[in-house]
Amino acid sequence: MTERVMIFDTTLRDGEQSPGASMNTAEKLRLAVQLEKLGVDVIEAGFPAASPGDFEAVSEIAGKMERVEVAGLARTSKQDIDRAWGAIQHAAKPRIHTFIATSDLHMHYKLNMTKDEVLTTAVEAVKYACSFTDNVEFSAEDASRSDRDFLCKVFEAAIAAGATTINIPDTVGYAIPEEFSDLTKYVMTHTPNIGNAVVSVHCHNDLGLATANTIAAVSAGARQVEVTINGIGERAGNTSLEEFVMAIHTRPNYLPLTSNINTELIYPTSRLVTMITGIIVQPNKAIVGANAFAHEAGIHQDGVLKNPMTYEIMKPENVGLSASKLVLGKHSGRHALRSRLKELGYDLSDEELKLVFKKFKELADKKKHVVDEDLEVIVTEGILRTTDTFRLEYLHATCGTTVIPMATVKLNINGRLVQGAGYGNGPIDAAYDSIAKLTGTGSELLRFSISALTSGTDAQGEVTVRLKENGLIALGRGADPDIITASVKAYINGLNRLEYLKANPVEAMEGL
Ligand code: KIV
Ligand code: ZN
Repeated sequence: MTERVMIFDTTLRDGEQSPGASMNTAEKLRLAVQLEKLGVDVIEAGFPAASPGDFEAVSEIAGKMERVEVAGLARTSKQDIDRAWGAIQHAAKPRIHTFIATSDLHMHYKLNMTKDEVLTTAVEAVKYACSFTDNVEFSAEDASRSDRDFLCKVFEAAIAAGATTINIPDTVGYAIPEEFSDLTKYVMTHTPNIGNAVVSVHCHNDLGLATANTIAAVSAGARQVEVTINGIGERAGNTSLEEFVMAIHTRPNYLPLTSNINTELIYPTSRLVTMITGIIVQPNKAIVGANAFAHEAGIHQDGVLKNPMTYEIMKPENVGLSASKLVLGKHSGRHALRSRLKELGYDLSDEELKLVFKKFKELADKKKHVVDEDLEVIVTEGILRTTDTFRLEYLHATCGTTVIPMATVKLNINGRLVQGAGYGNGPIDAAYDSIAKLTGTGSELLRFSISALTSGTDAQGEVTVRLKENGLIALGRGADPDIITASVKAYINGLNRLEYLKANPVEAMEGL
C-alpha cells in the first residue's frame, strides 16, 4: 500500500543558517507563499527567539499561510517556547518545535547536564509547549550519536508529555544509510508509545549522505522528512527536498510513498531560493542543477533523440523545466508577461505587475530576447528588495587603456540622495570605493564572481559577492546587461543584507 510522507520544509530556518544566506522578512514571506504552493506540509518559518527579525518574519508567515502548518523552533526553555508561540499563534495550523541534545558529547560539553536533567527538561518543555497547542514536535539533537536506549527513553517521555512528532536528527551528518535505517527501526520498536507520534528524520549532508539517510529512514518507517530547497543549510546543508521527492516519485516500486508536492513547481522554487539567497546551485546538482538534464556525450545525445528514456530517468517537465522557454520581446504585452510569470511561480498583484512590466520594457529595449532568467532578476530586484536601506540611483564609470578608472555613484539612503566619486584599479573597484564612502561601511570583499545569466552576447551579467563586516557575512547578487552595473547592484545588495543582519543580531544559539 502506498503511504504518504509528510514534507517538513526548513529552508527558512536551517536553510537560512547557510553561511551568508540571510533573508529579510519580505523575501521569507515570498518564499513561504511559494512553499505553500509547492505543497509542503509544514514550513519551519524560523527560530523566533534568535532575533527580533526572525520573530517578525515567523509571525508574518504564520498570519499569511492558509493550508500549511507553520512551525517555530525553540530550545527547551520557557522563554524560547513563549517566543515561538508568540510568533506562530495566529497561524491556521501552528506547531511548536522544541529540541535538546541527547548525545553524551553534547550533554557533557555543551549543555553541562546529566541524562536525568536532559530528560526532565525535555518533558517540561514539551508539557509547556502543549499548554499552547496540541501540535508539538520534539527533536533529540545529535540523535545519531546518542545512546540508543537513552534516546528511546527521552522519546517515550516526550510522547507521554504530549509530543505528536518525534524527530531523529543526524545533526552532524555522521550516519551511514544502513546504520540510520537501523536507528529508525530501533526507535520504532523500543519506544513503547511510538504509535502516538509521527516519526520524523532530519539529516545533514556532511558526508554527502543526507538524502540516502533520509530514504533509508522512510524505508524503515519514518513518515516525516525534514528537508530544504536546493539542500541549503548549516555547513554542507540538509537533505534536499527535490532529491527526496523525485526519488520516491521515480522509484515507486522500491519506495511506495507519496507526497503532496507538485513536482512541476520544484524548479521555479529552486530558482526563487537561488535568487533570494544568492547561493548558486552547483551545475551538477541532482534535479535542479544546470546540467541535470543536459546531455553532452554524442552517444547520449543520439540515444535521447531516439528515446529520452535511454538516458533520462525523469522528464524535465515533471520538475518544472519547460522544454521550450518562452521568449518575450519588446512587443510582448502585459498579458503574456503575467502568464509567463505565473508559470514561473510568481503570482503578482496588479501594482507589482505594473512595476515589473515597466522594468521588462526597459530591459527589452536593451536586449532582444527576454527569457525566464531575466524575468526572475526583474522580479527579485524590483519586488523583493523594496525594503532596502541603500538603492542605486545613478552610476557613471569610465575605464580603458589610457584613463584612470573612475566612478560616480548616486545612492538613495533611506530616502536621502547622496552622490560621490571614487577611483580604483578598475571601474568596479572605483565604484565600490565610492559606495563604501557614501554608505560609511567598511566591509571586506571576500569573494567576487561573475558569469553570464544566459547565452548570447547580449546576455545579462550575473555577479555574486560575499561581504564581511564586523564578523557578519552576507551574500549579494546583481544582474544587468552592463557588468559594471551588475557588480554595483551585487555589492549594494550585499550591503543591504549586512544592514539587515546588523539590525537583527542573532542571539547566541548554542546547539544549532
Ligand atoms: O540539525 C539539527 O539537529 C537541528 C535540530 C534543531 C532539529 O537542526
Ligand atoms: Zn539541522
